[in-house]
Amino acid sequence: MLDIQKIRSDFPILSQKVNGKPLVYFDNGATSQKPQVVIDAIAKYYQEINANIHRGVHTLSQLATDAYELSRNKIQNHINAKHSHEVLFTSGTTFGINLVTNGFATLLQPGDEVLVSALEHHSNIVPWQMLCERTGATLRVIPMNEEGELIMSEYDELLSNKTKIVTVNHISNALGIINPIKYMIDKAHEVGAAVLIDGAQAVPHLKPDVQALNCDFYVFSGHKMCGPTGTGILYGKEEWLNKLPPYQGGGEMIKEVSFEKTTYAELPHKFEAGTPNIAGGIVLGTAIDFMNEVGFTNIQEQELELLAYGTEKLLEIEGLRIFGTSKDKTSVISFNIEGIHPYDIGTIIDKLGIAVRTGHHCAQPIMNFYGIPGTIRASFSFYNTKEEIDSLVAAVRKAQMMLS
Ligand SMILES: Cc1ncc(COP(=O)(O)O)c(C=O)c1O
Repeated sequence: MLDIQKIRSDFPILSQKVNGKPLVYFDNGATSQKPQVVIDAIAKYYQEINANIHRGVHTLSQLATDAYELSRNKIQNHINAKHSHEVLFTSGTTFGINLVTNGFATLLQPGDEVLVSALEHHSNIVPWQMLCERTGATLRVIPMNEEGELIMSEYDELLSNKTKIVTVNHISNALGIINPIKYMIDKAHEVGAAVLIDGAQAVPHLKPDVQALNCDFYVFSGHKMCGPTGTGILYGKEEWLNKLPPYQGGGEMIKEVSFEKTTYAELPHKFEAGTPNIAGGIVLGTAIDFMNEVGFTNIQEQELELLAYGTEKLLEIEGLRIFGTSKDKTSVISFNIEGIHPYDIGTIIDKLGIAVRTGHHCAQPIMNFYGIPGTIRASFSFYNTKEEIDSLVAAVRKAQMMLS
């Protein structure tokens, strides 16, 4: 069992007051809070080893390069990638997806199909639409049901030898549903399609094993898992990364440059043009160490308890409906109250110190499916408590009274 009070003391922001009330931070799906070790590691990098990497013979440059590559190795171990050069540093999930869609522009042609799920964040929809517009390929959608689950029989029907790539999130940001990605990956491979998994909402809750999943690409952001903003990872299988062209041209991604012809560097550098977010990349490793010290079994236990408690208590409120009722869920509760706009509830409870997300959560197609403008989303992390859920429930009741 976790010592929650001790864990909370690692996160300085959690002892803050907001609008004169103790902060209750339930917007973890948008970004997680940062523990002191992460905050300290950023300062330590700039105080002690700041230098550009991969290019200097001087001591600081080597120290910074070693720390950056050590972090890459840590992340490789964390996600169980076969090679460290399959782990690319990016600025986040959005960048990783755009890198892949840009590369696929050289591989697709009219008649090819891209399958995207109905449960995606806009950043895993729009780049694929842009790719289809560029190549003449067709975007097809794997539909969802009322519980917020993807309909696997329809998925099976959609797959064909026209399918070139399937893209789906591991966990939905708007509803918290955990998708059956292993099944989906195996099925896609049967027709020769590649699979990209958007792990942005999964990595704060679990440790993905990319070899066991056998996915071709797995992308995530550091800032949702206790790491700094502007950091992320694109894992790609070596054979796929070799097949894709570079995304950006610039320093560091080349072998030789002349005005006649440029040759590209080996992986991972081929995809890492320019000076990267060095401090961020290093400190993402620190964040992953921190989460592993807390332990993903402990994290899941605590979060599932919060999910069960929160679901029970919120459902006691009259007129409250939860969206995403599948049993395969992580600690996200997306809900509405009959007759009240989610934004109004969010605004009132913010005055009571409670931070939730309201709106479409960058997943407008899901909101269209339910015929609603948006939801109130409370997303719990392992550092949240049942007492905080009690505060949320009391605040929502108060807002409901004021608004009806
Ligand atoms: C499922 C999912 N995919 C992609 C993203 C985009 O992540 P980022 O803005 O860090 O690039 C998010 C962010 O909320 C997300 O939840």
